[in-house]
Amino acid sequence: MELEKGYFITFEGADGCGKTTQAELLEKWLNTKGYNTLMTLEPGATDLGKNLRQILLHYDKPVSDEAEMFMYLADRAQHAQMIIKPALEDKKIVLCDRYTDSTVAYQGYGREGNIEQINILNKIATKGLKSNLTLLFDVESEIAQSRLGKTKDRLESQGIDFHKKVRNGYLELAKQEPERIKVINANKTIEEVFSEVKKIIGELLNI
Ligand code: TYD
Repeated sequence: MELEKGYFITFEGADGCGKTTQAELLEKWLNTKGYNTLMTLEPGATDLGKNLRQILLHYDKPVSDEAEMFMYLADRAQHAQMIIKPALEDKKIVLCDRYTDSTVAYQGYGREGNIEQINILNKIATKGLKSNLTLLFDVESEIAQSRLGKTKDRLESQGIDFHKKVRNGYLELAKQEPERIKVINANKTIEEVFSEVKKIIGELLNI
């Protein structure tokens, strides 16, 4: 199925929200309908990004908040320019697990960084490439915590208060940009959440 233009759809939410499962289900659904998709993620989609991801998630010495932020941004710059932009030019539907909103939610709201500055840095990193649509999977922090496995990475080990700050940050973002960011109640079962996803994407693509 040839589209007139590419679509850039991002998946966002605090850790344990189930967005990766939903992105995979959506990709399968779109492929059975004949759409050309590219599934990708942050951090770590490019070769450079894989190196950054290793540090971001597993480095075991202290990392300053700013160093952390710049590594996510460096990963994004490489990803946007090398992978996302070409795929959109190819008229693909790009499904991206985390993008600019993650940095605002985690490094901005979670780590209490300067959100105005992060917005500017996101613009520089992406050369202004924004998602057409963002699905925000919103989950209660207690439920999310119980979904996370026993071996947690650096960010997942931050505890429930951090999770709450990130979650509320995302909800604040959705209030500011209701057209682009659609909030999905992710406390429900995988099937229930996916039917919500299909409804939103179906409307976007007229399926
Ligand atoms: P990952 O294992 O990909 O987790 P998830 O399946 O939840 O996406 O780890 C990514 C982690 O990095 C996650 O805890 C969120 C965090 N993160 C930021 O803090 N800032 C960012 O800009 C991005 C993209 C991710």
